[in-house]
Amino acid sequence: MTVPPLIRALKGETLDRPPFWFMRQAGRYLPEYQEVRAQAGGFLDLCYTPDLAAEVTLQPLRRYGMDAAILFSDILVIPDALGQEVRFVQGEGPKLDPITAAADLDRLSLDGVADRLAPVLETVARVRAALTPDQALIGFAGAPFTVACYMVEGGGSKDHNAVRAMAWAEPAAMDRLMAMLVDATVAYLSAQIKAGAQAVQVFDSWAGVLPEPLFDRLVVAPTATIVDRLRADHPDIPIIGFPRGAGSLYAAYARQTGVDALGLDTAVPVEQAAALQKICCVQGNLDPALLLAGGPALLAEIDRLRQGLAGGPHVFNLGHGISQFTPPEHVAAAADRLRTPLAG
Ligand code: CP3
Repeated sequence: MTVPPLIRALKGETLDRPPFWFMRQAGRYLPEYQEVRAQAGGFLDLCYTPDLAAEVTLQPLRRYGMDAAILFSDILVIPDALGQEVRFVQGEGPKLDPITAAADLDRLSLDGVADRLAPVLETVARVRAALTPDQALIGFAGAPFTVACYMVEGGGSKDHNAVRAMAWAEPAAMDRLMAMLVDATVAYLSAQIKAGAQAVQVFDSWAGVLPEPLFDRLVVAPTATIVDRLRADHPDIPIIGFPRGAGSLYAAYARQTGVDALGLDTAVPVEQAAALQKICCVQGNLDPALLLAGGPALLAEIDRLRQGLAGGPHVFNLGHGISQFTPPEHVAAAADRLRTPLAG
């Protein structure tokens, strides 16, 4: 049986050429995505329509031949499935009815999660069936803290004060929300694996806003529980943790959660990344602005990161998601470079 290069790297093999994919590789920068998006109606309708979601998942691989597809969905399908209203407003990002008091948690329930998310699992199965044996399918979910940020702030936030204040002032309510999110996330990722996902990524996009005690309590502890519970049922499926902005806490996160691979944000220096390779595989961490810029700077930075991380397990990726304003031809230039062996 062929083991896809992505899975080999995530499990700790150092390969001649790092397998690559890009966070948010499907999306608005692709005209073919815009076409499907226009047919779908709302953004969540796109996530819950397996035909269309499978199509947009595969679009970037057709153009660029990445080593992996990432399921097309969103981290906010979990609050939606728990019963919180989630709306995507064009140009404004997601809007949720914020959770402001412990009583708001009584309106959420795990009961409807499996039914609501069933179409996403159908998308997973369809995509897996369409990939070659060398291409891997990555499933994903938001990490509990990052999903809680959107649930408590009521959408994107510049300061994340509401969620941090709740964590300090109402620890019991915060812990109850986190426990519900851990349960939903384990059930959802486990179902994605059963449907055909060969690796999973846990996106903790706002991990970097927390002081150390809250980082331990809201990022490390819930992620460690998710890893333990997934491993019990799916011991061979690699888990990628992406605690964006974790800085000097990346190493402790890797050791204490037991993830197979660390997603590194743009700010992690290549020397620190190489040191982290002694703990586990690293994934990253090209500046997505280089895909806006293109040209020689893009190619030089790809080569610098590859060189710096050639001594250990590495999956090439961005340090954060692709911008919607990215020229598709810059992504093509990056993909071509990544398929070419490093000179010298
Ligand atoms: O290609 C892929 O990477 C798979 C699909 C994917 C989406 N969102 C599709 C999407 C993935 C993995 C995500 C993760 C996600 N969603 C995160 C974590 C990663 C990160 O970027 O930090 C977060 C925080 C979200 C929440 C979210 N979804 C926001 C803040 C927004 C609006 C902002 C924006 O970029 O538009 C979304 C909407 C969204 N999710 C879009 C896409 C393609 C754009 C919506 C549209 O097409 O109208």
